Amino acid sequence: MPIETTATVVAEVPDDAELLAVPYDAGLRPAVELHLPVPDLLAHYEAKGEAGEIVEVPVARPGGVGRVLLYGVGDASPRALRTAGAALTRKVKGRDTLTVVAPDGDVRVFAEAALLAAYTFRIGDAGRKPVRALVFAGAGEEPVRRAEIVARAVALARDLANTPSSVKDPAWLAERAGEAGVPVEVWDEERLRADGFGGILAVGMGSSRPPRLIRLSYVPEEPAARHVVLVGKGITFDSGGLSLKPTDNMKFQKTDMAGGAVVIAVLGALAALKAPVRVTGLVAAAENMPSGTAQRPSDVITHYGGRTVEVLNTDAEGRLVLADALAYADAVLDPDAVVDIATLTGAITVALGRNVGAVYSTDDALAKGLEEAGQAAGDRLWRMPLIEDYKPALESSIADLANVEAGARFGAGSITAALFLREFAGDRPWAHLDVAGVGRSTVDEGVLSKGATGFGVRVLLEWLTKG
Ligand code: BES
Ligand code: MN
Ligand code: ZN
Repeated sequence: MPIETTATVVAEVPDDAELLAVPYDAGLRPAVELHLPVPDLLAHYEAKGEAGEIVEVPVARPGGVGRVLLYGVGDASPRALRTAGAALTRKVKGRDTLTVVAPDGDVRVFAEAALLAAYTFRIGDAGRKPVRALVFAGAGEEPVRRAEIVARAVALARDLANTPSSVKDPAWLAERAGEAGVPVEVWDEERLRADGFGGILAVGMGSSRPPRLIRLSYVPEEPAARHVVLVGKGITFDSGGLSLKPTDNMKFQKTDMAGGAVVIAVLGALAALKAPVRVTGLVAAAENMPSGTAQRPSDVITHYGGRTVEVLNTDAEGRLVLADALAYADAVLDPDAVVDIATLTGAITVALGRNVGAVYSTDDALAKGLEEAGQAAGDRLWRMPLIEDYKPALESSIADLANVEAGARFGAGSITAALFLREFAGDRPWAHLDVAGVGRSTVDEGVLSKGATGFGVRVLLEWLTKG
């Protein structure tokens, strides 16, 4: 469900707020004057002024008892403010209204984190509700409004990825894309066949729920100098296909369309943020299932544009659907840059873990732009190398390429997957985000809640609104 918490702004700190959050600095001084011995109280609780620290103090209010939440902001860096904002929302779960005296520094990231920490995905009425309302006192309207747009886009991406695959199939995902508020075009299986999208069709053919290619278009009001294409992996469930996954790995694969969800959510937020670039989103959606109609290991498929691939492992399906979409973008859309985002390989979790996503790129400026945007937005990216020596891993004796390495000479599963994708991106500046490690969280902590993270929404919106 979307974030239920509302965010508003007031100019003055109301003196009757029942729940009031007030920041304090490393010297344990509060940002506003309170009728409380704040430094003594904080010293008593051994507060140090760190971000995430909260000391709750009961105070007399006309007609009852209110509470002041003294919150630390550390060095007031964006990172510290995110920690502080998220901690506050978590502390007041189930309460009605929290009035927050805004900290010095970047109020947008603070408010964004406070809202993101309110995200929950519940089926039915299970669990405690987040705080109903956040009121930011002394904050600017604009940063809080932007925080809301971004946080709600992240929440949409999380909702789509958290939805069980019994509900979510490629056609369902296309319908949700249709609600993003931008023009959408959808290829059904007949049109996919007519246009030669052999990768998307091959992955989808084991399922009773046929595949889709979804195109979303954002055109800014002012004529744009650049056209960016975003491509998302939209596997609505990845069983592995005939190369079946073991149960323990399979149970998380409803989020294998997280990249596609990010593309839909980003396209839906660009207009409200007045992004100055033209953006086309492509979501390659299929359900990867084993059945009597499924593709087999050893099949050879023909991708959009005519390239052939020997499918040695049907569980390396993401690259097959992405290859079609990348080839289509290169041949038809004439983009200045292409960025794909995909929960592509378990191997990237081994390399970078659950907090940092991978960026691969054929273009240094593009890689740098994405890394910097990630740093600023809180979706951290690390650039990985496209190691040419490993290219022979994808050689096939009967087709142009194999979809996985036949033996185990090279290894480097995330790198070889990226090398495979590069073959279809043409000569355009291209970047690939492997978000298999960061797409799903195992903990409720800070801005994250258990399940889908929406990783990619913040970095891409940051990057695209910079121009
Ligand atoms: N969807 C998976 C990758 C994945 C794994 C995402 C764990 C999230 C959590 C992908 O389609 C896959 O199965 N990749 C294989 C590739 C292999 C067969 C070369 C993998 O990583 O094992
Ligand atoms: Mn797979
Ligand atoms: Zn997959």
